[in-house]
Amino acid sequence: MQATDFIVARNDLQQCKVIQAQLPAVETLPDEALLVKVTRFAFTANNITYAVLGDRLKYWQLFPAPEGFGNVPVWGLGEVIASKHPGIAAGEALFGYFPMSTHLVIEAADVSKRGLRDAAAHRQGVSPVYNAYTRVSGDPAFAGKQGDYQALLRPLFALSFVVDDFLGENEFFGTKRVLLSSASSKTAYGLAHLVHARGIKTIGLTSAGNVAFVKSLGCYDEVVTYDQVNALSADQPVAYVDMAGSSPLRATLHQHFGEQMRYSGIIGLTHRKSSPGDAAQPLPGAKPQFFFAPDQIRKRAREWGPGGFDARFGAAWAGFVPKLDQWMKVSEHRGPAAVQRAYLDTLNGRVPPDQGLMLSLSE
Ligand SMILES: NC(=O)c1ccc[n+]([C@@H]2O[C@H](COP(=O)([O-])OP(=O)(O)OC[C@H]3O[C@@H](n4cnc5c(N)ncnc54)[C@H](OP(=O)(O)O)[C@@H]3O)[C@@H](O)[C@H]2O)c1
Repeated sequence: MQATDFIVARNDLQQCKVIQAQLPAVETLPDEALLVKVTRFAFTANNITYAVLGDRLKYWQLFPAPEGFGNVPVWGLGEVIASKHPGIAAGEALFGYFPMSTHLVIEAADVSKRGLRDAAAHRQGVSPVYNAYTRVSGDPAFAGKQGDYQALLRPLFALSFVVDDFLGENEFFGTKRVLLSSASSKTAYGLAHLVHARGIKTIGLTSAGNVAFVKSLGCYDEVVTYDQVNALSADQPVAYVDMAGSSPLRATLHQHFGEQMRYSGIIGLTHRKSSPGDAAQPLPGAKPQFFFAPDQIRKRAREWGPGGFDARFGAAWAGFVPKLDQWMKVSEHRGPAAVQRAYLDTLNGRVPPDQGLMLSLSE
């Protein structure tokens, strides 16, 4: 049986291609291995970040590709089509981190009622979250459109939740307003939704073409285009959460707000054509710092005890999902040509922000 993989040149993400590979015969798989068909996966700017940081954060190690190429990790759903693990049956549905491929072999370990882990040697050395799969057969929260929402937004909203918690714990660094760049991104509007609900003013920074969408969300109190940020009032303290990763924009904001800039956290790099910048570059106001989610998650796991994080995140997710029916149009694109188009459109910033792309390499 053949597998189809979509791979990209690591040193030039505009170069990409589809390759075929022979799938291993089930008898030759390691004991306890699963052969999984990747049924569908989400694709957003966050996946482009995985590719941009593929070497630095070891994302390229997860799903090996021919020399010089990488297989971009994606969040999605799969179906076990053959199993050598006594506790997992063919036909089971899994949610987790997959390659842009039709198939994946998982070396199942730590199998529990709720999930399992891929113990393949080449996958170790990254955060455990990237090797964990949730068993979702029959779970309505992962069926149909709900499954699309999980793949498109759950990993992003987890970051939104952790940043909101971090800001709340720090009393918003003495500010009553938060600036968010790339306000139209899913991660940013998830955070704006949470921050807005606390009664903190949210100010979305976006490009001219995305202003109408960002205004329509209702979770931003004010929406400003990147070329208008100097018109924002600078007489009150402000916290900045940066999804765009643009150093010129960061410098402009710090110069404009001066000492009123009380927090400056770097999270994304949607505007990766501008340099993400040197966090040590001296700027007025709070020193820009990379936000490192695992630190806050570990801290809360200790403080909140077993299940405490999941319960709080679950409640936040339940309040967010109903918004998605208005905020996001999910569309499915199948086959290698459609996947390639979706990848290049996302890479080059051509996907309208109200779109949620679900992809599959199978026709
Ligand atoms: N550190 C973490 O753990 C973590 C976790 C989750 C997400 N993130 C980061 O958050 C960012 C947003 O991710 P997402 O998946 O939520 O994004 P998304 O929904 O796909 O965001 C789309 C928006 O990003 C901007 N954008 C995307 N590509 C662009 C391009 N090539 N040129 C210019 N603008 C572009 C545009 O917003 P505007 O016009 O509004 O600028 C666009 O509407 C990513 O950089 C992601 O890596 C980080």
